[in-house]
Amino acid sequence: MKPIRKAILPVAGLGTRFLPATKAMPKEMLPVVDRPLIQHVVDEAREAGIEHFIFVTGRNKGVIEDHFDRQFELELTLREKNRRTELELLAADLPSAGQTSFTRQQAPLGLGHAVWCARELVGDEPFALLLPDVLVQARHSCLRQMMEVYESVGKASNVIAVEKVPIERVHMYGIVGVGPANGKAFEITEMVEKPSRDDAPSNLSITGRYILQPEIFRILADQGRGAGGEIQLTDAMIRLAQEQPFYGLEFEGKSFDCGSKIGFLAANVAYALARNDIGPAFRAELKMLLSER
Ligand code: G1P
Repeated sequence: MKPIRKAILPVAGLGTRFLPATKAMPKEMLPVVDRPLIQHVVDEAREAGIEHFIFVTGRNKGVIEDHFDRQFELELTLREKNRRTELELLAADLPSAGQTSFTRQQAPLGLGHAVWCARELVGDEPFALLLPDVLVQARHSCLRQMMEVYESVGKASNVIAVEKVPIERVHMYGIVGVGPANGKAFEITEMVEKPSRDDAPSNLSITGRYILQPEIFRILADQGRGAGGEIQLTDAMIRLAQEQPFYGLEFEGKSFDCGSKIGFLAANVAYALARNDIGPAFRAELKMLLSER
């Protein structure tokens, strides 16, 4: 069983739901408190032991690459002013040389296509996939929890993070069918992308964290368009599930759909409240604000 060393981060999305904020700035750079969304997701992957980060970008996404590089003028100025804390903060976040790769998805053809664009960079090994629209606030990195399932299964398998959603929202997600339990996880019996309420096999949605075997690339190579006219990862996973087991994990933690305004705002509140430095003051401010309404 090969270890999971690489992660794909698809960051080519246009961010139309956040216009005009995302007209000139990638949505992945929107801050949750003081860290860009993409940094939070990289943090989660790092905590799970990921060594190589593959960003599938698009046009106008150059600042994501800059964010994971050094900022020479800034560092020089901070050093001149002896601002140690800020320098240490920047150094802690900086990936080592060669730890990041960037490739472009030239057209918005869907998540399945974005993953396929990374095939040469991933090669013949299992990998993690993290959608940066989704933040998971957890005591232990959500991907780390999935790795534990993957390691306990002990053979080439695929693991997907899932969570319960209200039945009236199943049409917004990939939904899984639930089979026998396997430790903390369960066998996935079926997957459907954005089903109607009547066609949904459960109310467990695919949360945007995956561990996948490299055979998915062979399948994606001839995957036709599915829901919304896009090449859907879920459709390719359905085909892969005929060859290999898929496990679902209801992870411990809370997810935020930062692709939606409400989810993004809620994430900011939750992450701010959880911070030792600003949490208490922010809680007081929030209380006042809400009592005035
Ligand atoms: C994608 C996946 C879907 C998953 C969702 C999680 O959909 O296709 O299966 O449930 O992410 O956020 P999208 O949100 O890109 O439409």
